[in-house]
Amino acid sequence: MIAYVWAEDEDKVIGRDGKLPWHLPADMAFFKKVTLQGDIVMGRRTYETIPKRPLPGRRNIVLTSNQDYEAPGALVVHSKEDALALGKEYGDDLYIIGGASLFKMFEEDVDILYRTRIHAHFKGDTHFPQDFGYGKFECIRSEAGPVDDKNKYAHTYEVWRRKNR
Ligand SMILES: NC(=O)c1ccc[n+]([C@@H]2O[C@H](COP(=O)([O-])OP(=O)(O)OC[C@H]3O[C@@H](n4cnc5c(N)ncnc54)[C@H](OP(=O)(O)O)[C@@H]3O)[C@@H](O)[C@H]2O)c1
Repeated sequence: MIAYVWAEDEDKVIGRDGKLPWHLPADMAFFKKVTLQGDIVMGRRTYETIPKRPLPGRRNIVLTSNQDYEAPGALVVHSKEDALALGKEYGDDLYIIGGASLFKMFEEDVDILYRTRIHAHFKGDTHFPQDFGYGKFECIRSEAGPVDDKNKYAHTYEVWRRKNR
């Protein structure tokens, strides 16, 4: 099984200046709970946004074109095919966690979407693909996240499943 896990604002913004534009610990906890079930696959830039990398408790797979790239404790791959092959080799589910280029790259492969919708507008320079084919998916869960002192933004956790697969 291949899944996407990400958070976006009302304009599909996912990043700014190499960081997340928001602070939303409830979504971080949700992300952790979901991704601990398998391996995570990410682009090199996303990997470098993680302060204490690799993320513990799950295999971290990093995609880069740099043949000399070193990521101690993580697995480095140089193509989508290599990432998919690793998932098969280990028999693990793959959680694609970004960034934008990977969300385009795996569109034909992904089975499940874990989308957190943040009901706010942020400035950003990185977006989830505007033309993503949601018509091939159905929303099977939608649940409001908590809003409190630590989580200022209203947000919704959605799960989408590919139709007829
Ligand atoms: N809101 C969210 O859920 C979320 C999730 C993830 C990331 N983000 C944000 O998004 C931003 C980073 O995302 P991004 O889209 O700029 O970068 P990215 O997708 O994380 O990484 C891009 C890099 O991946 C490698 N890559 C991509 N396609 C490749 C291919 N076909 N073959 C080999 N290597 C390939 C390249 O690395 P090399 O340059 O090393 O070759 C490329 O520069 C940050 O602001 C981050 O905080 C947000």
